[in-house]
Amino acid sequence: MPASDGSAAPHAVPISLHWRWADGRNGRPFDARSLTDAEHEAANRFRRAEDAALWRESRFLMRVVLADRIGVLPLSLRFESGPHGKPMLQGAGRERWRFNLAHSRQLAVLAVSDDPAVDLGIDLEWLHRRVSSDLIRGATAAEERAFLVNLPPASRAAWFLRLWTQKESVLKADGAGLSVPPAEVVFDMPHARLRRLPSRLGSAEAFAVHDVSAPPGHVATLTVRDRWRRPIAVRSATE
Ligand SMILES: CC(C)(COP(=O)(O)OP(=O)(O)OC[C@H]1O[C@@H](n2cnc3c(N)ncnc32)[C@H](O)[C@@H]1OP(=O)(O)O)[C@@H](O)C(=O)NCCC(=O)NCCS
Repeated sequence: MPASDGSAAPHAVPISLHWRWADGRNGRPFDARSLTDAEHEAANRFRRAEDAALWRESRFLMRVVLADRIGVLPLSLRFESGPHGKPMLQGAGRERWRFNLAHSRQLAVLAVSDDPAVDLGIDLEWLHRRVSSDLIRGATAAEERAFLVNLPPASRAAWFLRLWTQKESVLKADGAGLSVPPAEVVFDMPHARLRRLPSRLGSAEAFAVHDVSAPPGHVATLTVRDRWRRPIAVRSATE
């Protein structure tokens, strides 16, 4: 449909979100044969069995969802890491796939798009994790703290965790991760509009930060960096 200025209206970018639990409440059963030997060894290095289980389920999620979308076997996928650890797919025609993973406690979520013009970042937090004043002080800018400090302690933690997923999803969309201090990614509170970023991440306007509907007890944010600033169409499934 033409827009009011006569140009074509931008198509929404389809993005799928895939959730998976570490404790088995999933759509498809875990299949150990979908992971490489190196991935099994990496999982076995976790000290806590719950952390190992979540890591295995996360890798399974990444492999089976991307393999289904591309039409190949999960074990045929090869991953490489960006300069700060962001996983990407290796191989002809596969670099176009955009995806990002987050996990927290017993839950993992993967965001996927086949549009190579976008960068995706997703972050997820369990809302009952402990939030100390030191964590808040280290991860926020003065104007964000000015908002948080006036809240009752119980809701302060929830607001902070939402803000944290917003900051981290921006840093994960870029790929910089925690090589950039989260306190330098600053939001207008309470509206959660991205106000400023370190210049190495480019313009704040290129990042669209979306609250995502997460299972009870969790908060999640999806950030899409798209130089065309198109709308997005999100669908969500438990795998
Ligand atoms: C990426 C990062 C923000 C993840 O934070 P987290 O809350 O621990 O974990 P999340 O659940 O949100 O995400 C983890 C997943 O993000 C992905 N990821 C890793 N590095 C990433 C990056 N730079 N950008 C985007 N995604 C990244 C991986 O799939 C990772 O899964 P894995 O841990 O199972 O391999 C953080 O670990 C990081 O920045 N690491 C890079 C190392 C670094 O720069 N350290 C700073 C020391 S000063």
